Amino acid sequence: MALITDCNEAIRILKNGGLVALPTETVYGLGANALDEQAVVKVFNAKNRPSFDPLIVHVASVDQARLIAEVSDKAAALFERFCPGPLTLVLPKKEIVPDLTTSGHATVAVRIPNHPLTLKVIKTSGLCIAAPSANPFGYTSPTTATHVIEQLGNRIDAVLDGGACEIGLESTILELTNKPRILRLGGLSLESIQDSIGEVKIASSSSNPKAPGMLSSHYNPGIPVRLFESLDELLTQYKSVNKSSIGLLIMGDGPSGSNIYNLSTSYNDLEAASRLFKGLRQLKNKGFSKIWTHYLPDKGLGRAINDRLKRAAH
Ligand code: TXA
Ligand code: MG
Repeated sequence: MALITDCNEAIRILKNGGLVALPTETVYGLGANALDEQAVVKVFNAKNRPSFDPLIVHVASVDQARLIAEVSDKAAALFERFCPGPLTLVLPKKEIVPDLTTSGHATVAVRIPNHPLTLKVIKTSGLCIAAPSANPFGYTSPTTATHVIEQLGNRIDAVLDGGACEIGLESTILELTNKPRILRLGGLSLESIQDSIGEVKIASSSSNPKAPGMLSSHYNPGIPVRLFESLDELLTQYKSVNKSSIGLLIMGDGPSGSNIYNLSTSYNDLEAASRLFKGLRQLKNKGFSKIWTHYLPDKGLGRAINDRLKRAAH
């Protein structure tokens, strides 16, 4: 495994069917040529990802999206407004995309990521890049190159180091095949999408979901997570327990200390999103055997953060 900063090196590996973890504004993705079945198989193997869980394909422009998907006017308008950015659209797929990449679905998930290095890799190479989050299946997504190395270092060819991910939460997935439906809340808020296309339903999760990012158990930090309704409720319970084994992940005006990770003391949902996965990791790495946390206000990115906390706590 090599830690690289040269886009040409990343392109060389991808063109040879290899795996390169790539930075995006949301989380690091495990990239491979989406149209090369043998490369895509390697992605599933490296992640221990079940083959029924389709991959997002990353492109650099709406024109490139048209190579792999039927892009309706509505889809094009959404891409124009929000992308490059944290929105993934599920669209009817074109023949050229291997069934393996989409797990046999007649649709393909398409996204234009907003990171200069990865955009350069895609534009220069002309490749469409399949990239699930660069973590073993079921675990917390990586937001730095170091996280990727810790979790997948010996299973991939290289990590392109593009610094810490600005948003820190995966993209919002919007299905546009019938009535628009959100399959996964993420880095683009529900409010922004509704402002653009009106009322949208959020698909409910189940054990046989369309987007396994919606599996009720996901984003596992490796130690048990207990989720309280509010910071007040958490602190009330905390008074009467042995504190040495518990790390707290909180937001707002609360206590501080070496066992406490505050997502945002100023209640800023953008800041909280960018620190969420890092906070979960840091508390685990400090040796705590459990994490206590609480729901954030259900608005803006708070909704997507609550969704991740709920799954991490499952
Ligand atoms: O921000 C992100 O979206 C990151 C970065 C790397 O781009 N990627 C990411 O990929 O989160 P992944 O594989 O961890 O999550 C993709 C989700 C999965 O839950 C998958 O089931 C869903 O997208 N998905 C992919 N293709 C789909 C399709 N055709 N229909 C429905 N869901 C799909
Ligand atoms: Mg993932």
